[in-house]
Amino acid sequence: VTATISHLGGGLMMAVGTAVIGSLQFGYNTGVINAPQKIIEGFLNDTWNSRYSEPIPTTSLTTLWSISVAIFSVGGIFGSFSVGLFVNRLGRRNSMLIANVLAFISAGFMGFSKLAASWEMLIIGRFIVGLYSGLSTGFVPMYVGEIAPTSLRGALGTLHQLGIVLGILMAQVFGIESIMGNSTLWPFLLGFTFIPAMLQCILLPFCPESPRFLLINRNEELKAREVLEKLRGTEEVGADMQEMKEEARQMMKEKKVTILELFRSPLYRQPIFIAIMLQLSQQLSGINAVFYYSTRIFEKAGVSQPVYATIGAGVVNTAFTVVSLFIVERAGRRSLHLTGLLGMAFSAVLMTIAMALLDQLPWMSYVSIVAIFSFVAFFEIGPGPIPWFIVAELFSQGPRPSAFAVAGFSNWSANFIVGMTFQYVEQLCGPYVFIIFTVLLLGFFIFTYFKVPETKGRSFDEISAGFRHEKARHLTGKFFHLRSGGANGGEGNK
Ligand code: GLC
Repeated sequence: VTATISHLGGGLMMAVGTAVIGSLQFGYNTGVINAPQKIIEGFLNDTWNSRYSEPIPTTSLTTLWSISVAIFSVGGIFGSFSVGLFVNRLGRRNSMLIANVLAFISAGFMGFSKLAASWEMLIIGRFIVGLYSGLSTGFVPMYVGEIAPTSLRGALGTLHQLGIVLGILMAQVFGIESIMGNSTLWPFLLGFTFIPAMLQCILLPFCPESPRFLLINRNEELKAREVLEKLRGTEEVGADMQEMKEEARQMMKEKKVTILELFRSPLYRQPIFIAIMLQLSQQLSGINAVFYYSTRIFEKAGVSQPVYATIGAGVVNTAFTVVSLFIVERAGRRSLHLTGLLGMAFSAVLMTIAMALLDQLPWMSYVSIVAIFSFVAFFEIGPGPIPWFIVAELFSQGPRPSAFAVAGFSNWSANFIVGMTFQYVEQLCGPYVFIIFTVLLLGFFIFTYFKVPETKGRSFDEISAGFRHEKARHLTGKFFHLRSGGANGGEGNK
């Protein structure tokens, strides 16, 4: 442990800390729209009134509101899919820097929408900050994965998720009525995005470019070594350089891999399938049913102070991300993801029981709080952080940008679907709505058990070699298959 801690040079922490400001923005804008719903609906109504001299019809209000919420994930879908356009041309760090243009523009649109009496500006602003967030979900885990030493890749990768959950929590707290969740200050609540963007623009120029990008994509060996020495806080970076050169050699063979090639080439088919399934397991677990609608869920479950229960969920969410951060390098990705999925499935069953029995037993409202808190806690043990950073681990430098685009696209699309449909499905299924998530969670548990390899402590190159060998084994003798690879993805798995 002391050996790994000594890897934590100031330069490394500064670089990771600055990058995850992008994650914080994503989380903040995920959570910000929840609490002030009634107040912003008031603005929509006033604006409608001044334009058409009549109160807004209920259907128009619902539509305008749903669009304002969901357009964020539409932006996320486009943003995440475009990651590959930036990272190889501009580099990882400068891509993060440039993306802030979007954050500034969106803060302007959202912050001045009230002054301009324009819901169009609100919707455009939400779309643009969605674009920014989609880009961040690719840029940040890629950059962090590439600068982290192998022994800390999981822990530092989890900081992306920690940024997200802190962002959600900040938004929940700022959204309290006496802080900024009121009719005068809500434009500041939304425009707040400006401040983290400023901070990131000031700090990023002091952060290094990813040494892998410098060496493998730009062939600038001296610069790469220099950056690496700073990041590791030591001049003994020979082993790291060697490993990167090995990756570079592999890259000569694979060059830049397009999205289509990811699916066509038998080399990448398995890891991309795993990456997509892990993203789906994160979103189709139902986590955002909680983070978008928790206040309403608590209300229905008979909780008397639903807003505070929602903030409680945010606190539990943050606390367990920290727990995961400290155990992920010991327990490994696979076992934490499995534990998380199973725990969420149990919590969802508990939630269903509590909701179904609420009419007979009023104290069930407490059980529902416990169920939601444990649902969230298990989420952050594995399904929250792991899918984001494992994409960097499953692919080497050549296919990595395309893999992030596909993974991000899958994640955001599933996010959009849950966000849009949850309320309708809930109307149909009533208290049994969480049973759907239970079934999905168990399905993903089985998939993970059989298909997801452990990546802890293995270099990028060892991991892709694992997939290559598995492939070769498939071709040379099917009878070897007998689940020997399955969960373990070949050698290098100690
Ligand atoms: C993950 C998900 C995000 C969710 C958050 C909750 O980062 O990607 O959609 O809101 O976790 O903590």
